[in-house]
Order: sequence, then C-alpha cells, then structure tokens
Amino acid sequence: MSEQVYLNGRYLPLAEANVSVLDRGFLFGDGVYEVIPVYSGRLFRLEDHIVRLNVSLAGIRLLLDKTVAEWQAIFMPLLASDKDQYIYLQISRGYAAKRDHGFPDPVEPTVFAMCSDIKPFAGRITGIKALTLNDTRWARCDIKATALLAPVLLRQEALDQDCAEAILLRNGYVTEGAASNVFAVIDGELITPPRNADILAGITRDVILELAQAHAIACREGIIAEEALADASEIWVTSSTREIVPVIEIDGKAVGDGKPGPVFQRMDALFQAYKQSLA
Ligand SMILES: Cc1ncc(COP(=O)(O)O)c(C=O)c1O
Repeated sequence: MSEQVYLNGRYLPLAEANVSVLDRGFLFGDGVYEVIPVYSGRLFRLEDHIVRLNVSLAGIRLLLDKTVAEWQAIFMPLLASDKDQYIYLQISRGYAAKRDHGFPDPVEPTVFAMCSDIKPFAGRITGIKALTLNDTRWARCDIKATALLAPVLLRQEALDQDCAEAILLRNGYVTEGAASNVFAVIDGELITPPRNADILAGITRDVILELAQAHAIACREGIIAEEALADASEIWVTSSTREIVPVIEIDGKAVGDGKPGPVFQRMDALFQAYKQSLA
C-alpha cells in the first residue's frame, strides 16, 4: 500500500487518515466505491470506471461533479511503483451531526482514495472451486455500494466450503459472483448475463465482450438458467483485481474436464496482451 492516502483534499499517512464515527459511511454504509487497476503506472480504463462511478453516485442521489481529469489528478500522487496496483476510491454521504436516515443538509461527502498492490491470484492459473447460492442482495446491484453485507456473507459461505467464489442465483437464473461477473461456455458459445439492475456492469466484463467481438469468439449477453450451468464446458468469474478466473468445480462437480478450458486460455491470452498494449 502507498504510504500516503487521499482524504478530502489532503494527502496524508494512512495512520493519520481518520473520519468521524458519525460518518454515514460507517453508520449506514451510505456510500459508493470504485476499484481501478493500475498497470505500469497507468490507470486501466479510467474513463469507464468514472462513468460507472457517476452511475453509482446518481443511483444514491449523491452529487459530486468531478471530471475524469480531476479524478486522475487526485489518483496520480498515490501511485507508488511500476508494480500492478489498484486505486480504491470510496465516497460516502459524509458526516452528519446526528444519526438520522434522511440525508443531512448540506451534504459534505467524504472522499477517500488509497493505492494497494495487486497480488496475483493463483486461482487464475489453477482454476477455482465455486458454489451456487441464493442471491440475497438488494434490487440495485448495478450500484457499486459500500454496503456489502450480503456479498460478505455469501463469499464467506463459499470460503467456509473451501470454494473461492459464490455464483449467485435469482429466480433460477445466474446473476453474478459475490464480487465478480460470470461467463459460461455453453454449446461452444460464451454467454454472460445481461446488463441490468441484477448485476454490476463490470469493466472486466466489458473488456471481454469487446475482445470476443474483435477476435470472432462466439459470444453474447443472455440469461443463464441454473440447470444450464451443468451443461457448461467452461465457467469463469471476472473482476478487476483477479481478472479472468476459470471455475473448474461447481457444487462439487467438475466443470468440463475439470481443468481451465480452451476458450479461457484464449481469452486470458487476449486479455493479457490487451493490458500490455495499454501499458
Ligand atoms: C458484485 C460485483 N460484480 C462484478 C464485479 C466485477 O467488476 P469489475 O470487472 O469492474 O471489477 C465486482 C467487482 O468487485 C463485483 O463486486
């Protein structure tokens, strides 16, 4: 982690970066966040992350109008090395003198950013085990909200069963992972659930859709029924810090031949090459 973090217009050591216990981020989880990878000192798909941040902010009715260039200027002093890193950005509805659900007036958002190293995720190479769980989250999963209690419990339930991710089901259909999007290869076609309020519009997901299109890999957005998962020759979970991770076992059963599959190998190579090309 970088020595300095950003808090409300100042750069200061992490140990000195404090917010009030009356901050609504602490009391209510009333805020949104972003996780932006940094490769070779470059912020990966920064514009896309800021567009999504603005969707999240609008979704919680928190106004904070900063341009991409202004955000970039805030992040740049935090980048500490040429290693793969990520910016964590969190914006809460700030301090209010009294604990009350209604918005304070005026609102003074708390803006916090820090930079950490991305630890390569071994499961990207070996594949991971996953289990399916009921999607117990709220109805606005398109907002990247800091209130993460349901995903925390879902991920822990997966970990408790020796699985690295939970794949979530709502009304018999796959939505996404506890902290990832889901892709499946079914009858030779790469499918990911459609973009709607049931899922977060993952930036990694967007990149995969673009790469599939550019390289003539059969791919579409479409619903994935729970039963269809059993027919999938490959399942992946995708996110900014873990990238594309093949699921080799789901609910105790092998996916395909129980090894990272050929479509994954191809897409992972394309994804790594794309990262390099931007760096
Ligand atoms: C619920 C959820 N879906 C999807 C993603 C993947 O999004 P991205 O690829 O932008 O990291 C995340 C990332 O943390 C997530 O928490």
